[in-house]
Amino acid sequence: MNKIEAKHRIEKLSEELRKHNHRYYVLDNPIMSDFDFDKLLKELQVLENEYPEFLDANSPTQRVGGSVTKSFTSKEHKFPMLSLGNTYSQEEIRDFDNRVRKMLGDQAYSYVCELKYDGAAISLTYINGELAFALTRGDGVAGDDITNNIKTISSIPLKLQGDGFPEYFEIRGEVFMPLKGFENMNKTRVDGGLEPFSNPRNSASGSLKTQDSSIVASRPLDCYLYGVIAAERVSNSHFDSLNKAKAWGFKVPPFIERCENVDELWAFINKWEEGRHKLPFEIDGIVIKVDDLDFQEELGNTAKSPRWAISYKFPAERQATILESVSYQVGRTGAITPVANLQPVELAGTIVKRASLHNKQIIEQLDLYLNDAVWVEKGGEIIPKITGVIKEKRAVDAKMVQYIEECPECETILIQKEGEANHYCPNEMGCPPQIKGKIEHFISRKAMNIMGIGAETIDLMFENSLILNYADLYKLDRESLLPLDRMAEKSVDKILQGLEESKKVPFERVLFSLGIRFVGSTVAKKLAKEVGSIEELAKQNFEQLIAIDEIGDRIAQSILDFFDDEMNLENIAVLKAFGLQFEREEDDVEGSDVLNGASFVVSGVFSLFSRDELKATIEQYGGKNTSSLSKKTAFLIAGDKMGPSKLEKAEKLGIKIISEAEFKAMIE
Ligand code: IVH
Repeated sequence: MNKIEAKHRIEKLSEELRKHNHRYYVLDNPIMSDFDFDKLLKELQVLENEYPEFLDANSPTQRVGGSVTKSFTSKEHKFPMLSLGNTYSQEEIRDFDNRVRKMLGDQAYSYVCELKYDGAAISLTYINGELAFALTRGDGVAGDDITNNIKTISSIPLKLQGDGFPEYFEIRGEVFMPLKGFENMNKTRVDGGLEPFSNPRNSASGSLKTQDSSIVASRPLDCYLYGVIAAERVSNSHFDSLNKAKAWGFKVPPFIERCENVDELWAFINKWEEGRHKLPFEIDGIVIKVDDLDFQEELGNTAKSPRWAISYKFPAERQATILESVSYQVGRTGAITPVANLQPVELAGTIVKRASLHNKQIIEQLDLYLNDAVWVEKGGEIIPKITGVIKEKRAVDAKMVQYIEECPECETILIQKEGEANHYCPNEMGCPPQIKGKIEHFISRKAMNIMGIGAETIDLMFENSLILNYADLYKLDRESLLPLDRMAEKSVDKILQGLEESKKVPFERVLFSLGIRFVGSTVAKKLAKEVGSIEELAKQNFEQLIAIDEIGDRIAQSILDFFDDEMNLENIAVLKAFGLQFEREEDDVEGSDVLNGASFVVSGVFSLFSRDELKATIEQYGGKNTSSLSKKTAFLIAGDKMGPSKLEKAEKLGIKIISEAEFKAMIE
């Protein structure tokens, strides 16, 4: 391909990817598979690497992040970002409407009602149809330039489509985290030994202020746009200008309605007060805006908020119920979480039976007694919480909730670490949920990914004293497994094969699997890259550890504590003897790890991929390429015209033979 052809191909690919991105993230109506999308993206990446002179700052490849901003620069807003006045009742809405009517005299006006998305406000500036910069609200006068982070949000267009947009304009909206994404993200964080985020709103605003844009790219953020600001107006109506923005490729929410009077406004509010619980994201109210921009100008602003718009805030949903008991859960790290068991009550569309009490201090602040009548609320958080006690209803002989002193599972005296609100059971190696939790983490998909074993199998093995730590897994054999309940020959084979295959898992994931507190998969990757082997890691002192990028005091101390424990050293020695990888290999690749370090041989002619693409894809998804078949080969991808001797050898060695379509399914 010559330079001119490369330029055309880059333009064509960019345009194509932009269209599919819009269909997928804005219209929610994809027509291309993720696989094909990634393939085109990869092709574009390769071409841009080869011809950097054609790399565009708003190319679809720039969404993956990678830039690190040490400190965000502050930039003044062209138009201040005001906030909205709040109302809480129909009465207050009527007052607002009366004020508007009084100022507009006898001119006819209408309102636009929107949902009040609960996230972080942003302002995007487009020049000649391209995203030029993005700012946070800041203090309303100036905000932080977070352009690199914003580019990673796939539903925000980097280049606009269609025409008719002003040469220079601003569009404002809310970045938020959908509930499903929030839950999944927290699950992954907890699996990796990290603290979960408290609610979707904080996760969204925290993410936008993250310095490493590749971390932002991994957060499930979305963005709804709710206001166009341009010196040359695109329409006299706010409603119409949003429709235009939609045609230019912006994600404009479909929940907008025109309303003519207070009754219609109130009907919209009532509809969403109920309906909001079915939305896939959180809202905290309704925003009411005068539609006509001339009228908006006429009404003007006060120092803080516009006179042409107001928000209606939903009352926090709360219910009274009875606290029946408090139980205490022990997590994988030994952290104790008190949980309130409640008389079941319906709250915000779901039946609530339990509420998190977080820690001892919260119980003391609430001054909780058993059988108290308590208020339960669902605020921004997903798990409901107790916000107060109805003390008048307390029985005279009620007993105060006494925080436990011993671990409910192993009776070890609990400790409280300095600066931490939680109590811990320090019996890391002898407390059943901690042991089982560590083993569960060890076998999990992002860790050693051991097929054939789940939480129930671990319970079974633990209860039968077959395993007391994760190193014991490798001591399992047919004789010990077969007598277990519901353990058929086939399941045993699967487990043993899964364990055998896990010996090929690269060092960075073995390190993550060890369950060192605060060493999640990203940190493990970093450490593996920096120190290269477990021996080297064990030799590092505090200063050396914190000198590594992204390793702070807390992680460093936790690593030192881990290697200080004889039991951990013993486990590592056992794992090493069983052949697990404790050294980084030069060709360990970064990227998705679905192929789990398995080695592949590619042979024959293919139609879905070229041979080179196939090899690159294997590496991209965490597999390894080898040229000849051996006992270590996990898969042979067989194309057309593959020689019969290869096939025979693969069959003899018991290597799994798959087609390119089967391989494609594996990574999808
Ligand atoms: S309009 C002049 N519309 O609510 C203010 N704001 O206090 C113009 N918000 O953090 C704001 N959904 O980001 C508007 N549909 C919506 C909104 C909305 C959420 C947020 C906004 C800001 C706060 C306003």
